[in-house]
Order: sequence, then C-alpha cells, then structure tokens
Amino acid sequence: MKVIYPGSFDPVTNGHLDIIQRAAKNFDEVTVAILDNKSKSPLFTIEERIAMLKEATKSLENVNIDSFSGLLVDYVAKSNTNTVLRGLRAISDYENEMRNALANNSLNNDVETIFMVSKSEYTFLSSSVVKEIASFNGDVKNMVPEVVCKQLKEKYK
Ligand code: PNS
Repeated sequence: MKVIYPGSFDPVTNGHLDIIQRAAKNFDEVTVAILDNKSKSPLFTIEERIAMLKEATKSLENVNIDSFSGLLVDYVAKSNTNTVLRGLRAISDYENEMRNALANNSLNNDVETIFMVSKSEYTFLSSSVVKEIASFNGDVKNMVPEVVCKQLKEKYK
C-alpha cells in the first residue's frame, strides 16, 4: 500500500521524521508531499525544504519527496493512491485534522485519511516551536535532523 504524507515541513522536525520512518516500515511506499504555498510566507523555500527532507530520509529506500500546490485532493487524484497519512500529536490536533479529512473526503469521496499517533516525546514539537527557539539562538539539535539544524543556523545568523 502506498501513502501520501502531506505537510508544510517548514522545516521538517524529528516528530515528522519519526512518522516517516514508522510509515516506511508499515507501508510499501511513502510520498512526502510538501505544500508549496507562498501565501503562508514560509521561512524555507520549497527547494530548501525538498533538499532537507531528501537528506533526512536518504537511508529510507521506499520514501520519496515531492511537492504540490493547490488542493491536496487534486494532488492525490493524480497519484497512484487514495490514502493520505497524517500524524496526531494531541487531542488539540484532532479538531483540525478531522475537519481537513472530512473536507477532503467531501471533495473527493475516494480520498481516505489515516492517522498515526506521534511518540509522546514529540507531543510538544512543531515547526513553529523549532523556528521560535532557533530565532532566539536556542538549541534545537534534539528536535530536528542535523541538516535542518545547520540550515536554521544559516537563516538566523
Ligand atoms: O504541516 P501542515 O501545515 O499542518 O500541513 C497542512 C496541509 C498542507 C496538509 C494542509 O493545509 C493541506 O492539505 N493544504 C492544501 C490545501 C487543501 O487541500 N486543504 C484541505 C481542504 S480544507
């Protein structure tokens, strides 16, 4: 079974990476689909986010990195799967995730969303938290892959 793991990944965190690694074990193929949405004013360009995710997942043979713009359901319709994977960190994620899953399914009845629960050690972790800490020169080395740590230092130097 193939799954699409979509997100902004601005930047990818160890929490995302944990979901990707566990998905790679449990599914035949995992496509990480990065949303290219300039209106969200991301810190990292789409090219930078692709490069960081490629580096962080290079040892995982059944994981590939792609990007999309527009609606997720349109991207899913052009792929060879109908299954979207999302991670759930806490109950607070559930409301948004349920809304998106229902919206996506109402736009395209074939699109199914499945969820993996994040490890408890990553419950607090998000790209926003990482950017905030890094912007004040805080240590994020236990929160993100090494390549992201380097790139954050570059951005905020
Ligand atoms: O990492 P994020 O920012 O939580 O990921 C959210 C993402 C990219 C999965 C979601 O915003 C998305 O799919 N955006 C594309 C537009 C869309 O299809 N929205 C869902 C219908 S409301």
